[in-house]
Amino acid sequence: MDYNKINSEIENVDINAIPPEDEPQRQYYFIKLLRRWMEQKVKEEGRELTCCVNTFGCQMNARDSEKILGILKSIGYKETNSEEADLVIFNTCTVRENANLKLYGRIGQLKKYKDRNPGMLIMLCGCMMQEKEAVEKIEKSYRHIDVIFGTHNIFKFAELLAMKVLDERLKRKILVDVWEEEGGIVEELPSERKYFFKSGVNIMFGCNNFCSYCIVPYVRGRERSREPEDIIAEIESLVNDGVVEVMLLGQNVNSYGKNLKNTVTFTELLERVEQIEGLKRIRFMTSHPKDLSDSLIEFMGRSKKVCHHIHLPLQSGSSRLLEIMNRHYTKEEYLELIEKIRKAVPDIAITTDIIAGFPGETEEDFNETLDIIEKAGYDNAFTFIYSKRTGTPAASMEDQIPEEIVKERFDRLLNKVKEISAKKAAKYVGKTVYVLAEEKNNQEAGFITGRTEQNYIVHFKGNEELIGKIVPVKLCESKGFYYYGEM
Ligand code: 5AD
Ligand code: SF4
Repeated sequence: MDYNKINSEIENVDINAIPPEDEPQRQYYFIKLLRRWMEQKVKEEGRELTCCVNTFGCQMNARDSEKILGILKSIGYKETNSEEADLVIFNTCTVRENANLKLYGRIGQLKKYKDRNPGMLIMLCGCMMQEKEAVEKIEKSYRHIDVIFGTHNIFKFAELLAMKVLDERLKRKILVDVWEEEGGIVEELPSERKYFFKSGVNIMFGCNNFCSYCIVPYVRGRERSREPEDIIAEIESLVNDGVVEVMLLGQNVNSYGKNLKNTVTFTELLERVEQIEGLKRIRFMTSHPKDLSDSLIEFMGRSKKVCHHIHLPLQSGSSRLLEIMNRHYTKEEYLELIEKIRKAVPDIAITTDIIAGFPGETEEDFNETLDIIEKAGYDNAFTFIYSKRTGTPAASMEDQIPEEIVKERFDRLLNKVKEISAKKAAKYVGKTVYVLAEEKNNQEAGFITGRTEQNYIVHFKGNEELIGKIVPVKLCESKGFYYYGEM
């Protein structure tokens, strides 16, 4: 992915012809149209137009937002953090119900900005927009929204924006374009990066697992893998551009490559990524315990670049609940897996996701979860209160757990996680480890914040020139999830 090449292709498009059918040329056409429109706007307004992209949810959404921002910058928008911008985009999440509720509040607040700046555009995208009820509610009650699109047609972003700003007939309407079916994977579109030295890289989209509580397969569609050549080319171009760390992204990276014409395993992909000269660190997210292969574990043990950290969602420690959750492993199998990983990669950090209050969860089931946290010795765990998502099998299960009981269990869960992870973090104190310096610390002047290979956060004294470099730091004091260190 060569951005100079993409740019010159955009400039070479003939905007007097009809839009091409093929992608990404079709989007190049609309980007060029929007560039001309932007030049005109800047003249009229006597100032640059601003945009603000707000991201909710997971790493996938974060990466999608970078793609949107890449197109916006290529059109000529200036990025701002303020929601009083000329174009505001909310890239939404719907994994839990309260994410939806919060979003309605946030878009309601935008109305006052739009009253002050009638030319303001508001666009909504992401997982929540794949839900019919959510879109219907917005169309009915939030008429100040301009465009709604989904997860499958994000590559059409430039076209949708062009339709909205250039087609007079659409000026007063909410333009809704949400696809029920997955679109193809479109390569070679402009993209931005939040950090110049690290980047997420999608290796696959969608999920086939249908865990019974989870809405992701309904809003992100079936699993599709990118061709390994496209992934390698993207990473090579990122490395040429100064990137030293990549995070390979997918809902279940361990099943990467299964649906390609020439099948490739995730380990084979990693082996190829490892060969890229200049790349220093490789991370990946998320792994499903049922698909984690021996070859991957073995490779993690011998790789020079794959970071010694694995995120391995457990969800529950009760084999009975795991079966109802459709997770395809038992408590015992999960623990065996952990043992195998630790044997192959002794200094690995293991993190997880756990849900409290899944329908039918008994006190006994919950105690199994607390027990496995102890036994697995997690470095950290993201804990969630079960949230009922309409359309998933778990939503219609009997025995939904009363709120007070879930809250009480959630508190116990959190305390357990804190206790275990604090013990774990204390073990590294006194050690010197390599830290990728990522940003200056906003709370403490003269301090830099970075991450260890195990993904622990470290604050240490240093200047901004270190940002993007991997430096040795002695971990002096542990604060649970983060450290103070000395370079
Ligand atoms: N309720 C609570 N947590 C959920 N997750 C997914 N769906 C739900 C739900 N309905 C959690 C899982 C997953 C993480 C990303 O979000 O733990 O691993
Ligand atoms: Fe949801 Fe399960 Fe797919 Fe993860 S693996 S996205 S929890 S369905």
